[in-house]
Amino acid sequence: MKNKNCNQQQILKKRPNGLPDKNTWELIETDLKELSDGEMLIEQEYISLDPAMRGWINQTRSYIPPVEIDDVMRAGSVGKVIKTEGKTIFNVGDYVTGWGGVQTYCITKGENFYKVDIQKAPLSYYIGILGMPGMTAYFGILEVGEVKQGDVVLVSGAAGAVGSVVGQIAKIKGCKVFGIAGGKTKCNYITDKLGFDGAIDYKNENLIEGIKKHCPKGIDIYFDNVGGEILDSALIFLRKKARVVICGAISQYNAVSNIEGPKNYLSLLVNRASMKGMVVLDYAPKYPEAMKQMALWILEGKLSYKQDVYSGIENFRETFLRLFSGDKMGKLILKIKE
Ligand SMILES: NC(=O)c1ccc[n+]([C@@H]2O[C@H](COP(=O)([O-])OP(=O)(O)OC[C@H]3O[C@@H](n4cnc5c(N)ncnc54)[C@H](OP(=O)(O)O)[C@@H]3O)[C@@H](O)[C@H]2O)c1
Repeated sequence: MKNKNCNQQQILKKRPNGLPDKNTWELIETDLKELSDGEMLIEQEYISLDPAMRGWINQTRSYIPPVEIDDVMRAGSVGKVIKTEGKTIFNVGDYVTGWGGVQTYCITKGENFYKVDIQKAPLSYYIGILGMPGMTAYFGILEVGEVKQGDVVLVSGAAGAVGSVVGQIAKIKGCKVFGIAGGKTKCNYITDKLGFDGAIDYKNENLIEGIKKHCPKGIDIYFDNVGGEILDSALIFLRKKARVVICGAISQYNAVSNIEGPKNYLSLLVNRASMKGMVVLDYAPKYPEAMKQMALWILEGKLSYKQDVYSGIENFRETFLRLFSGDKMGKLILKIKE
């Protein structure tokens, strides 16, 4: 049972070479400091576990600065304001989401935090389908992929937090949608529960044969969450004017040598196709519009969503590694409020 005046924090201690190991983070306990004017104390309930967190602990230039050694590990979170000092932007009792980090409490003036409505959706949805992964899927397929009715869409990481939503939005827009996922259970989930038109089990099937079977005339959009060999295989099947959305490359995040780039990129030239990277943070001003639409689709039963929730801040690393082993279903979340 944790002491009410103490904050448990996962601190970055060592940059990993490959998969994070037991030396990467350290769980420490610190006394909660007194609040200054304008500050709020947030009791954190859920932490979002995202593949991008692996990139944030590398000492390399990226779209945001790396987490520094001895800093609290960066993570999206949701929690409740339990104490305030002076004039604050939220009130005691408000539920908020933001970059709370992997810690049981967070003290903030509220920059980059948003108030959420738990009457409209469960709290954890605000770090999932109504949070960063959901926004990525929404803007990735609609704005970067420029999806249109009748497109043939192929999605990798298809049973995951982003991919599962990408596929469902493409179905709503009247596309033929195929997903690539690891294992029979995930493949059955995306076809039987999410309405994908077909699935390719990249762990047990020949990928190129699988894509050929489902998409004999090629693909108009390839939404890439994994990179590496899967990206290379998809490039072979581009149709004229196809769009490749580079959302992520999870197969490469723990690479210990140079990452593998696409060998088949000349398919872009031949097919007058385009390949475009995206960072969801660029769409932040438009999140409210997207959240409204996504919430409506959930209400109408058009969007289905699965969460895989584990407990305990002490289990952060073991749970995080499930992203890379694939040993989880849907959005991976760590519940840290006891
Ligand atoms: N650009 C952006 O702004 C942005 C924002 C959010 C997320 N992303 C990216 O989107 C991707 C998906 O994120 P997510 O949150 O939805 O994660 P997720 O798909 O819920 O979880 C990761 C999944 O990746 C698959 N995977 C792991 N290693 C793999 C490998 N070597 N080859 C193929 N598949 C592998 C596993 O599924 P299987 O069991 O099916 O293998 C695993 O469950 C990530 O690359 C992430 O970095 C980008």
